Amino acid sequence: MTPDLHPWAADLSDLYAQVWARLVRGVRDRRAPARHPTLATVTPDGKPQARTVVLRAADKGTGTLDIHTDLLSSKVADLRATPFAALHVWDAAARLQMRLESTVTILIGADVAATWAGLPDASRQSYGSLPAPGQPIAQALDYAKRADPASFAVLRLTVQTIDALHLGPRHRRARFDRSAGWTGMWLAP
Ligand SMILES: Cc1cc2nc3c(=O)[nH]c(=O)nc-3n(C[C@H](O)[C@H](O)[C@H](O)COP(=O)(O)O)c2cc1C
Repeated sequence: MTPDLHPWAADLSDLYAQVWARLVRGVRDRRAPARHPTLATVTPDGKPQARTVVLRAADKGTGTLDIHTDLLSSKVADLRATPFAALHVWDAAARLQMRLESTVTILIGADVAATWAGLPDASRQSYGSLPAPGQPIAQALDYAKRADPASFAVLRLTVQTIDALHLGPRHRRARFDRSAGWTGMWLAP
């Protein structure tokens, strides 16, 4: 049998630590797979919707993740109706799929003023486009980019469960629950 390339995958607490290490790396390293997770929400008419986002903060201690977005984007309307999201990352080098269920708080205004103040000008242009994201326009470039702090929202994901699937010589899958103190349990992959 080939030796396991990733010994951390064989132990629940090591696997849990590895998930968070990969998420934190995504925030710091533009080339890390967790830099660009897929965020899935439920639309007001009950359909799934997924899109790529940038992971802006990851805190293992609180089990929270931050994503920046335009307050007028459809995902915010989704989250107002259904404040739950799923986040998906496939880290190919680690052979690790991470699926996170979370509740989501939409932070705006004074709660995000300090974050806004720390954003480079180029990033600020992503928040406040006119017309609002997703609105029909006559020509492809019939929109304006403006940095509008009133359109800036931070989606704070409070992770509730983590499903980690490791594809090694023998596959392993584990589930970690906030309600169980993140102790983790093995699942059939
Ligand atoms: C590489 C990449 C990174 C992106 N990062 C973000 C992001 O951090 N926040 C965001 O709101 N949209 C981001 N987008 C755009 C979203 O994927 C999506 O097109 C947009 O937010 C509108 O989605 P919605 O209509 O579902 O709200 C990114 C797209 C790509 C391709």
